[in-house]
Amino acid sequence: MPSLRHYHTFAIDAQAKSIVEITALEQFSPAWAAAKAEDQPVLLLGEGSNVLFVQDFNGTLLVNRLTGIEHKQDNDFHYLHVAGGENWHKLVQWSLQQGIQGLENLALIPGCAGSAPVQNIGAYGVEFKDVCDYVDVLDLAQNQVFRLSVADCGFGYRHSVFKQQYAKGFVVVAVGLKLAKNWQPVLKYGSLANLDVNRVTAQQIFDEVCAVRQAKLPDPKQTGNAGSFFKNPVVTARQFQDLQAEYPTIPHYPQADGFVKLAAGWLIDQAGLKGYQIGGAMVHQQQALVLVNTGNATSSDVVELAHHIRQAVAAKFDVYLSPEVRFIGENGEVNADNVIS
Ligand code: FAD
Ligand code: EPU
Repeated sequence: MPSLRHYHTFAIDAQAKSIVEITALEQFSPAWAAAKAEDQPVLLLGEGSNVLFVQDFNGTLLVNRLTGIEHKQDNDFHYLHVAGGENWHKLVQWSLQQGIQGLENLALIPGCAGSAPVQNIGAYGVEFKDVCDYVDVLDLAQNQVFRLSVADCGFGYRHSVFKQQYAKGFVVVAVGLKLAKNWQPVLKYGSLANLDVNRVTAQQIFDEVCAVRQAKLPDPKQTGNAGSFFKNPVVTARQFQDLQAEYPTIPHYPQADGFVKLAAGWLIDQAGLKGYQIGGAMVHQQQALVLVNTGNATSSDVVELAHHIRQAVAAKFDVYLSPEVRFIGENGEVNADNVIS
């Protein structure tokens, strides 16, 4: 069975029955049909930066390696049509080199362009939905591509239709981005607020985002990880008021619907878990929301650590953390909440 070590960023030793790298759209459906004919589960993967293999995968992995970027424009907008296998960060760099602004806050997010809509990637005040025009989806059983407008994608915080009705049997083969020529910098998050809104360039925002990320987040090429392991929890206004009364400095982000988002990294940090280790899995010292593989972590180490964190945070704050990372078992995705509870 081929090893998955180079197909995901947690660097956990797991295997798949077979791995097929897809470089042309017309290869997808036959590869999918061949696996189905053998009754094998199929899993789509980009760069594997948001997955944890909790078991060996007993099926076929289809790895998206479709490439190509098309650029059009009118008086008001740049339009990019980006094949799903393009690396997201390289796209951000390339767009800035072309003088196209608007992707700079999303610099250094690992993974493929085709994975970006799946969890509606977001960072430093911008989400994929803010730059998305459309998403092209291949129906593997029908071997037909259809287009979803941004409104049809059901984008929310780390959420989209690609985690629901299009989670199985569908591939994001390309994304369409729409970027305004009348560029407005987004400086609402963290240290970006120190930049001068009237003079700042997109390149300066890109540089600041890269610097902050490099200071906090481990480079998967050196240390196995999958970014934020948990989602930031959203609580009711009432629960937030109780927490704030006890912890006046608690970071919080009010949501449009009256709910309040909390910072999971702060909760884990306050629970005293930075640097906490089980086997080869450890809570990252610079950012407690990230779990790292110190070298020889097994998936059980990571699962046990995640379980411990969830229990400790719930005991202290009565808030249950839910994984952002997608857990993959022998037959495909498994419910991550169940695995760590
Ligand atoms: P994969 O891990 O390969 O796949 C993720 C999921 O999408 C899987 O369920 C997979 O089956 C599915 N999938 C993959 N490709 C397709 C496709 N073409 N069609 C349909 N389904 C598909 N995320 C953020 O939102 N913001 C951040 O700031 C951020 N920072 C990170 C920092 C680090 C150091 C790391 C390691 C991760 C970070 N992440 C962040 C998470 C990750 O980068 C994103 O989720 C990214 O979009 C995953 O891309 P990928 O190609 O690696 O997806
Ligand atoms: N904090 C601590 N201790 C920690 C970590 C964080 O006190 O160990 C505090 C920070 O001081 C800050 C707050 O918690 O007040 C939030 O921290 P940070 O700004 O680092 O962001 P985050 O909420 O931990 C989220 C995303 C990241 C994204 C950043 C920047 C989620 C789950 N994570 O992290 O996305 O890059 O904001 O926008 O929403 C990812 O999804 O993989 C990811 C890395």
